[in-house]
Amino acid sequence: MPGGRPADAPGYAPYTRPPAARNIPGDRDLGSRNVTLTFPGPRFRRLIWIPAALATLILMACGGSSSGADSPFPIELTSQRIAVGEQVYAANCTVCHGQVGAPPTLPGAPSHAEDGHTWHHADRHLFEWILDRPPLAQVMPPFRGTLSDEEVSAVLAYIKSTWPADIQSRQNELSRLIEQQLLEDAGG
Ligand code: HEC
Repeated sequence: MPGGRPADAPGYAPYTRPPAARNIPGDRDLGSRNVTLTFPGPRFRRLIWIPAALATLILMACGGSSSGADSPFPIELTSQRIAVGEQVYAANCTVCHGQVGAPPTLPGAPSHAEDGHTWHHADRHLFEWILDRPPLAQVMPPFRGTLSDEEVSAVLAYIKSTWPADIQSRQNELSRLIEQQLLEDAGG
């Protein structure tokens, strides 16, 4: 032990786990290795940087997009966005989903209208699913690389604009809650 007492000093012996204490159920068997009683050890001190760096990265990644007023969700519906979104939808989505409110072109493709499930989900999740596919999707392709973030927001704005006002406000409330929860999780 550098700087400590020399090992051969009288009365000093490196700590060895006594044999009697070894077979405690659930206790990790440290065998007869000498246990150095320094905490935090150098290995631990190195490891602690990993969660610290991860936490910093997550905070940086979420900082811009999820902090209250800066969040792009719930998506703001402007007539310009809805008009662009209607074209994006016609060019990329009707081939399977059909027109919103009409039966799907591909049997089994979910409806985005009031009678469907889309409005049960928050804007952030719908946005991510259109970019990278919904969870467990079998058919729905990812649109990352095909559609820009703004085009995905526009297509969602268009879908949302077809819902009745009460469903719009319920789904907006859910979208806000998800943003709020993300902020809290990030400690903000
Ligand atoms: C090749 C057919 C196909 C195309 C193209 C397609 N989808 Fe899908 N989509 C599906 C299917 C099928 C599902 C159900 C999940 C699965 O099995 O893949 C789905 C699921 C979804 C869901 C999640 C289910 C829900 O709750 O609404 C969303 C949102 C969605 N699609 C939006 C879109 C949008 C927006 C576009 C156009 C940009 C699009 N899809 C293009 C076939 C398609």
